Amino acid sequence: MKSNRSDDGAPAADAESSALPRELADAIARVAPRLGSLAAGLRFFETIGSTNDVALDWAAAQPPDRADGLVVIAEEQTAGRGRRGRAWFSPPGSGLYVSIVLAPARAHAADGNRARRAMSLLTLAVGVGLAEGVAAATGLQTSLKWPNDVYVSGRKLAGILAEAAAPSVVVGFGLNVGAAAFPPELADRATSLETELGRSVDRFVVLAEALASIAARCADLDAGRFDAILDAWRRRAYRAVGARVACGSIAGVTVGIDDDGALLVKTGERIERIVSGEVTWLP
Ligand code: BTN
Repeated sequence: MKSNRSDDGAPAADAESSALPRELADAIARVAPRLGSLAAGLRFFETIGSTNDVALDWAAAQPPDRADGLVVIAEEQTAGRGRRGRAWFSPPGSGLYVSIVLAPARAHAADGNRARRAMSLLTLAVGVGLAEGVAAATGLQTSLKWPNDVYVSGRKLAGILAEAAAPSVVVGFGLNVGAAAFPPELADRATSLETELGRSVDRFVVLAEALASIAARCADLDAGRFDAILDAWRRRAYRAVGARVACGSIAGVTVGIDDDGALLVKTGERIERIVSGEVTWLP
């Protein structure tokens, strides 16, 4: 097993990747016809700081159109990160830690408005794909909590972190598969596939199906089928309508998402659009 650490022990983003485990290679091969250009390049690490860092470094080092579609997978992350500076619990062997280099605007280079929409819908599209991949692999139906958390039974199953690597974007997802011993601060908020299903789950089959479903939703983005993504997201929406939320100085009741994927919040007589920021979902 390679260590992928620099001499001072810090995880190295440019570390050498390992060969794909046989079971993972087989699972990917089975969905290969559905992957399109996704996973044309695949890098696998036994342990790494953050798969997003590897993907960001890769995107920075390649000519723009060569980086797209790279998928970085790790068995364990030592510095996995979530949104808003939080850590992402990434123990070995019980989760999926995956980052993908994507370029949603590239297919719409001739139309600035469509390019902007494709960009703004990217994380929703990946969230839909991830939920659809989980359903295809396991039968478990999940919900999407704006902007892009995957929920089941009121607990978080997966999260998505998008980071700019202009002109590309790195989209990383973490999915809890095994019933790991979550740290106390997560114990009553997180769940896993195996907890929900009450049986063991083949992580690599879930990963392969997730990639295939994400590839299909990225194809929707490239083809300008934005309504298909929005409809699929709205069908899976978890409390996107009728929830009391607060975000900065805005507090009100959610009334859905708009066609650019922004969360719409009714405050008195006004409808506010929330495009980013920390949304607190009130009881
Ligand atoms: C969140 O819900 O806060 C987003 C979590 C994203 C975690 C994934 S795991 C793979 C990729 N690498 C990281 O360091 N983070 C993302």
